[in-house]
Amino acid sequence: MKIEANSLTDTKELANGVKIPVIGFGTWQSKNGDEAYDAVKWALKAGYRHIDTAATYGNEKSVGLAIKDSGIDRDQLFVTTKLWNSQRDSYDHVLQAFQDSLTRLQLDYVDLYLIHWPVPTEYRDRWQKINADTWRAMEEIYRSGKAKAIGISNFQPKHIQELQKTWEITPMVNQIFLNPGDPQPELVKYNQSLKILTEAYSPLGTGNLLHQPIIEEIAKEHHKSIAQVLIRWSLESDFVPLPKSTHEKYIQENAQVFDFELTDADHEKLNSLTGKTAQHEDPDNFDFVKPIPFL
Ligand code: A2P
Repeated sequence: MKIEANSLTDTKELANGVKIPVIGFGTWQSKNGDEAYDAVKWALKAGYRHIDTAATYGNEKSVGLAIKDSGIDRDQLFVTTKLWNSQRDSYDHVLQAFQDSLTRLQLDYVDLYLIHWPVPTEYRDRWQKINADTWRAMEEIYRSGKAKAIGISNFQPKHIQELQKTWEITPMVNQIFLNPGDPQPELVKYNQSLKILTEAYSPLGTGNLLHQPIIEEIAKEHHKSIAQVLIRWSLESDFVPLPKSTHEKYIQENAQVFDFELTDADHEKLNSLTGKTAQHEDPDNFDFVKPIPFL
């Protein structure tokens, strides 16, 4: 299937006109220190211009340092970070958490700031009010210009509907677990109906899809790797995938996805994997209590 993008620097447009590079580099589970630093350094060297991190990943310092050391102009980069659950108990706490992320990243602004989860364990009995209050602070951050876009992550339609009751600014992005094993069609449609761009984390199924014979078959036909087929599937599905790796070879490989197209038959085969691998966590029941690893 054809797509408009031809390279890592090609962009899509968010609802507010901000441009977002079509593939982001994921850093979930990349350890602060050499691991995250080298991964981001290699990604920038390979041509990625969109880097995704989060306060709770604990690696903002190394991610920021790699960005700084790259010498790439700030306006050529798109950097996302996320607000952690434990920092949402008040409006002021959100503003402080955001400022702390900027400090760790050594940046004056981020391109995208996301609420990481809709129903933190700490606020399970009052998530509706907490989300409304948090979003008010996110809107303030957006208006200050220190986040060029704001959004949500792991929100299901019912969480979005609830937020919609009080928002003044519609989230520009919803970042969700998304791959052929769990394509979440209802949620994707819901995002589209509100012009919310869908980002796909775990496009390789957090690694769980890398040994599927069906994908291997497709990969062989195209002389590509399984990872490349999965990233291409994400692009052709109109998502912005965020593949993660800590190996330079994989990081480069995952960027080589603009020289082939999947057929309708390939898409059908990939669709048959739905439900066969790890599924997204249920935000209403999953236990997310985790201290933020301040560095
Ligand atoms: P590693 O980080 O050791 O390089 P996802 O992006 O879905 O979260 O998947 C990330 C997982 O997939 C990581 O374990 C990563 O390994 C692995 N991975 C990423 N790219 C490739 C690739 N091209 N080939 C094989 N494994 C890969």
